[in-house]
Amino acid sequence: MGLRRLTPEDAAAFRALRLDALRLDPTAFGRAWAEEAGKPLAWFGETLERAAIFAAEDATGRLLGMLAYQGDAMLKRRHIGHLWGMYVREEARGQGLGAALIAACIAHARGQVSVLQIMVGEGNPGARRLYERAGFQLYGTEPASLRMDGVDSATLLMFQRLD
Ligand SMILES: CC(C)(COP(=O)(O)OP(=O)(O)OC[C@H]1O[C@@H](n2cnc3c(N)ncnc32)[C@H](O)[C@@H]1OP(=O)(O)O)[C@@H](O)C(=O)NCCC(=O)NCCS
Repeated sequence: MGLRRLTPEDAAAFRALRLDALRLDPTAFGRAWAEEAGKPLAWFGETLERAAIFAAEDATGRLLGMLAYQGDAMLKRRHIGHLWGMYVREEARGQGLGAALIAACIAHARGQVSVLQIMVGEGNPGARRLYERAGFQLYGTEPASLRMDGVDSATLLMFQRLD
């Protein structure tokens, strides 16, 4: 099992993993599968340029999990980085891949930004615990943040200082 930063050349494997995540665990993400399923391969390649996306892979090179780091683009928010898209394939969970992906993103973010933010659904206590163990703390809640099949759910906002 290895962990590495993906490059635009990994666009096809990244696309497959990302679309599996949105399709198999729709309640865990703000984005819907339908929003990204029709995007061309080049769009996924551009995402890999815009964000630093770390992935875990098995011995054959199949991607097992991912986490993205992206610096905020706004001038007054350039000290803030965002983690998004955390996903580990079901068969690979519970082995520390999630924790290793967070550690890789934090190491990458250190020295670039002073604050890291991550969002997690209120109905996802496992992910929240994982983020707390990695140093994140809750700073707020966005009520009625996502609406799926007519049902609203809140999003928990978490952050940690790196300096
Ligand atoms: C949340 C997620 C990324 C965690 O990945 P992971 O590689 O299992 O993470 P780790 O192994 O580092 O730690 C996971 C925790 O689950 C426990 N665990 C053990 N076996 C497990 C299993 N079969 N499946 C899931 N979790 C398991 C671990 O002991 C650990 O402790 P905790 O229950 O106190 O939190 C993964 O479950 C996932 O992709 N879920 C669906 C998508 C999702 O919720 N993404 C987060 C969006 S904010």
